[in-house]
Amino acid sequence: MSLIYNIGLLAGIQPEGVLRVEGAAQGETGMLRNAWLRIEDGRIADFGTGPRKGDIDACGGMVIPGFCDSHTHIVYAGSRDGEFLDKINGLSYEEIAARGGGILNSADLLHQTPERELYRQSMVRVKEMMKKGTVALEIKSGYGLNPEDELKMLRVIRRIRETVPATVKSTFLGAHAIGRGYTHEAYVQAVIDMIPAAAEYADFVDVFCDEGFFTVDDTDRILSAAQHLLTPKIHANELAVSGGVQVGVKHQALSVDHLERTTDAEIEALKGTWTMPTMLPGSSFFLGLPYGRAKDYIKAGLGVALASDYNPGSSPCGDMRFVMAQGCIKMRLTPVEAFNAVTLNSAYAMGVSTEYGSITRGKRAALILTEPGWDLTKLAYQYQTPFIRKVLF
Ligand code: NIG
Ligand code: FE
Repeated sequence: MSLIYNIGLLAGIQPEGVLRVEGAAQGETGMLRNAWLRIEDGRIADFGTGPRKGDIDACGGMVIPGFCDSHTHIVYAGSRDGEFLDKINGLSYEEIAARGGGILNSADLLHQTPERELYRQSMVRVKEMMKKGTVALEIKSGYGLNPEDELKMLRVIRRIRETVPATVKSTFLGAHAIGRGYTHEAYVQAVIDMIPAAAEYADFVDVFCDEGFFTVDDTDRILSAAQHLLTPKIHANELAVSGGVQVGVKHQALSVDHLERTTDAEIEALKGTWTMPTMLPGSSFFLGLPYGRAKDYIKAGLGVALASDYNPGSSPCGDMRFVMAQGCIKMRLTPVEAFNAVTLNSAYAMGVSTEYGSITRGKRAALILTEPGWDLTKLAYQYQTPFIRKVLF
């Protein structure tokens, strides 16, 4: 047992059984000033206000649930900094991909990289994320693009899951781009054929359902083949209004992600479903794409999650506080809306919100302890000032 005392502000409190927040509730969260929190067996046993003696001094700082990052591609080899220069010189994401750069470039690098080296490089990023307060993360395959290399990625994700204190969820994203040497049709069939083996490792299946990548029909076939084996989480509407949201909802996707380009039809399609719309402002920032219409989703009564999309091509950054700040600055979310988007709702979007994402009795005591003087508004406002004293997993 341990007890955190001298907490200036305990924020992110939710009643038991609240697994996501939607509509007006996304703008609310419980807070206590001058608080304490008792931990038993790594879980939040109790909390309250007033002076207490304990073994972890919060030094008057804020205590919040750790960040949950429900969408990353952090297992990759090498770097794509060469393409960064192409981008600066004016080439779009699609043009870089069409020249053999992009995802296929990462696939070639990954193919040449031994598995233990891929693990080593990826662990550098996982440690960076944990240091910045991420306590649960999802990692996708999708730089293998053939059966051997996709499984190599899934094994590396499993090894990361076994070695880090953060919780890791694994997603099979075979349908990220057409693998080298395949026709479109042959590769879609190859992805379908990989599903049983991938399901031995992964929790989720993902498809990049977007213009120039996979069609709604491809997505429908892949998700049908994965039914009962892997829950869908879909890349949709990054490059075009793709129909990916609707096909995701049809297959009861846990989340539909990106949504830089959405119309009212997507918002309508999501109402009353269990699917979490998830936006990735880091890729809007890096690629110069429109930011998702998070505010409109919330006005329509939906909840919104935010994640980093940490990857070498469209978002080389896994800083969830920066994601939260962009939610406020670029998407006009209130600090509490953005905070709920990077904690409880992103935990929901990766299937861990029974355990993570809020200060709730019984949940894992996966917490960020901040320096004194911080609150949720300052977190998004002063978004580059170091704020973390300690992360508990
Ligand atoms: O989510 N959009 C597709 N996949 C990634 C980018 C992957 C890459 O460029 O390496 C994304 O943005
Ligand atoms: Fe992505």
